[in-house]
Amino acid sequence: MKEPFSDLFKDSNVFADREVLSPHYMPEKLPYRDKQIESIVRFMTPSLRGERGRNLFIYGKTGAGKTSCVKHIVEKIKGLPTMAKVSYINCRIYNSRYRVLYKITGDYLPIYAKRGYGLVDIYEKIINWIEEDGKILIVVLDEIDIVKDLDDLVYTLTRANSDIKSGGIMIVGVSNKISFKDDLDPRSLSTLYENELVFPPYNSTELSMILKERAERGFKKGAIDDAAINLAAAISAKDSGDARLALKVLSKAGELADERGDGFVTVNDVNNASEAAEEELVYELVNTLPEHQRLIIYAIALLSIQGSRYKRLSGDSEAYLFSGDIYNKYSAVSKSMSKNPKSSRWYRKYIFDLEMQGIITAYESGKGIRGHTKLIKLSYSPDRMKETVEKTLSADSEA
Ligand SMILES: Nc1ncnc2c1ncn2[C@@H]1O[C@H](COP(=O)(O)OP(=O)(O)O)[C@@H](O)[C@H]1O
Ligand SMILES: [Mg+2]
Repeated sequence: MKEPFSDLFKDSNVFADREVLSPHYMPEKLPYRDKQIESIVRFMTPSLRGERGRNLFIYGKTGAGKTSCVKHIVEKIKGLPTMAKVSYINCRIYNSRYRVLYKITGDYLPIYAKRGYGLVDIYEKIINWIEEDGKILIVVLDEIDIVKDLDDLVYTLTRANSDIKSGGIMIVGVSNKISFKDDLDPRSLSTLYENELVFPPYNSTELSMILKERAERGFKKGAIDDAAINLAAAISAKDSGDARLALKVLSKAGELADERGDGFVTVNDVNNASEAAEEELVYELVNTLPEHQRLIIYAIALLSIQGSRYKRLSGDSEAYLFSGDIYNKYSAVSKSMSKNPKSSRWYRKYIFDLEMQGIITAYESGKGIRGHTKLIKLSYSPDRMKETVEKTLSADSEA
């Protein structure tokens, strides 16, 4: 019998440093993001010079490099001789006004980051600290849409600027959801959107380059070739232009090669890995969605599966669906599960969110048979999406 754990610390045949391929690894260089980094720095320049800059809102799809760029800049600023201070805040963890203020206190006033201090206390500590020498605080709120009481948070941070006699606070919000705007108070909205910057998704050539740089350090010499890397890039570019997915495919392909043990990652490994990576990614994506967004995905999957049967007969390969048909199917599906379908206004918002997260692709039709309408399809295989939603819905009903 094989010893359990015997493989655990075995040297890898293909990996030189697995960590380099992990999504948490911070690469030194961020190719194709010079322009975005430059813009962010430009928007921050007044703050870095000691005058409060206008707030900035950054958005773009998952895996477009937003977090990496912002963190990169935050690190650089920490080394600059500037009066500005930055707090990088991951709102997945710090998801309320209190927690965000608490995190800022933890970063710069740790003696007050103890339990027992209320919101007003820590707010005042922060204000006093800013006023001490008129410093500027740049608050970076990554995945800002997750903050539960965002209106309150924006209000408090903005309000601080009028309470402060010298110095101030600049907000940098980062998000891959754009329709969350609709739920915000118009005042918070115009506050956040003083400036706006969009990150486009990566194309296949760009992903290839990004992967090559990572592969060079992550894999042993000669363990992977360009063909395998290009394929991983092409697969991810086709789905979403998501660099995180591309990296996931690559490291999974490495694992498969390692298991086989011949020391070389093949194109076949990449193909197999992309199946597995996609499955994992789809599950992660779908699992965190609100129920009605999952039901919409379910409706699209059902229609696509039916449609593709019809299309196989007719030989038509175009798999886009009409938005209105999806809404009808979604309503029917909801009712069959004894759930109240949301209004079509909500539905359009949800569609927009799903699009921003790269789960669906959509485009506006020109003036055609049905006038102006949105055409929509899933970014991942309908069968897989259907299966995943079923899994998450049954997990919900057990909980
Ligand atoms: N230009 C780039 N160069 C190198 N790696 C990148 C680049 N853009 C993204 N990545 C990598 O892709 C992954 C996802 O990027 P991330 O910044 O988290 O995207 P986002 O925050 O937009 O979802 C990370 O592992 C990151 O290192
Ligand atoms: Mg991010």
